[in-house]
Amino acid sequence: MSILTFSSPIPQNPNFRTHNRRLFPQASIEFERGVEFDAGDSFFRHESSTARDLGVLAASIHRRSTSSLHILDAMCGCGVRSLRYLSQGSADYVWANDANEDTRRVITSNLQRSGERGGGNMKRRWVVTHMDARRLLGERFLEREYFDLVDVDSFGGDSSFLRSAIEGVRLGGLLYVTCTNWYSSSGQQPQHSLASYGAYIRPMPYSNEIGLRMLIGGVLREAAVLGFKITPLFSYYSYHGPVFRVMLRVTRGTFKVNGDYGFISYCNKCGNSQSYSFEELNKIYCQYCNREAFSSLRVSGPLWSGRLHDTTYLNEMLNLAEDWGWTHSGKDGIALEKLLTKMIEESDPELPFGFVKLDEIARRAKLNSPPISTIINTMKQDGYVASRSHIASNAIKTNCPMDICIQIAKELRHEILM
Ligand SMILES: C[S@@+](CC[C@H](N)C(=O)[O-])C[C@H]1O[C@@H](n2cnc3c(N)ncnc32)[C@H](O)[C@@H]1O
Repeated sequence: MSILTFSSPIPQNPNFRTHNRRLFPQASIEFERGVEFDAGDSFFRHESSTARDLGVLAASIHRRSTSSLHILDAMCGCGVRSLRYLSQGSADYVWANDANEDTRRVITSNLQRSGERGGGNMKRRWVVTHMDARRLLGERFLEREYFDLVDVDSFGGDSSFLRSAIEGVRLGGLLYVTCTNWYSSSGQQPQHSLASYGAYIRPMPYSNEIGLRMLIGGVLREAAVLGFKITPLFSYYSYHGPVFRVMLRVTRGTFKVNGDYGFISYCNKCGNSQSYSFEELNKIYCQYCNREAFSSLRVSGPLWSGRLHDTTYLNEMLNLAEDWGWTHSGKDGIALEKLLTKMIEESDPELPFGFVKLDEIARRAKLNSPPISTIINTMKQDGYVASRSHIASNAIKTNCPMDICIQIAKELRHEILM
């Protein structure tokens, strides 16, 4: 079997010099969803297995509508994701790249496990390179090589590769990107979130959902520069890290500001949130308090305020997970059935952005909160839309105003005590 791999002749990133390279790092054999691989001493986290499951499911569904599936795994670590795209995700071809040249042996040995050819001949199904992701993406673009799925599993809040990653996606294809900068999403570094994602983020009670919206908004902005549109297929927050991940479809389209991209506010005084378009920036006030209530408002944006997921795509992913017997949790992952079901509930187009935490309802109502399922059922009976959030177990996504939430909690508590 040919195991030719491509590599950049010069290390592209000064942080990834090879002079300390251990030629034979200790093997660390792992299993994930039945796939065996060597993590070596690369950057590898068991906790990211759910994100890899979701990527593989999405890739496999995308493969149904394309004649072939070419994937660029721009920051592949030990290559487990590339291996899984090949052996489980119906990929015809995977380009696995990691700037760290020390990962070379482990990546190539893992991709060989797919039982497929790598290297430079016509039938190759994978190649391995060690370049800075931006340089690789730029070079592929200049060569007019486009991918059906570009996966950039970065850490930190570096958004500098976003534009070239979008350019690398074939029209109608998928982009899977990550942000792990909690300081930005939690409003601790508004200057950084503004520089990286074009969004001035203030502290909000649903900051982990904001992280996803900040990332989607940042990609939307970069895509708009290139004349592309993006549609979120799923958005996944994982508390390990924490990590914000989004899978987006990239299509041709003119940028139009609509209700999906704008500003959001949270009122400290009453606990309600609102969204504003760019045209409404001169009308920011809390409609639940009064027209003069400006000082109690925290405003963030512009960011993505539309739907976090595509319901149809998620249903297909859930069906596939059932077919493959993946509904239970993988190693250190979380149960996919539970996660995808919550995401499907969250994707109701009538649900607004954000969520209300039970603790906040309890604090404002000055009582112990009734069970979350009881509150959600009562909200629904009263004509509101309500669901759980995959982001926080004690949170409710709803269009029910805070004063009604408090009233419901008080009535339910009263009934329990009767
Ligand atoms: C989060 S890890 C990838 C984990 C892997 N995708 C997985 O699922 O196990 C990020 C990887 O990106 C690599 N990396 C960091 N900066 C990079 C850059 N500018 N270009 C390419 N790779 C880079 C690191 O060496 C590291 O292996």
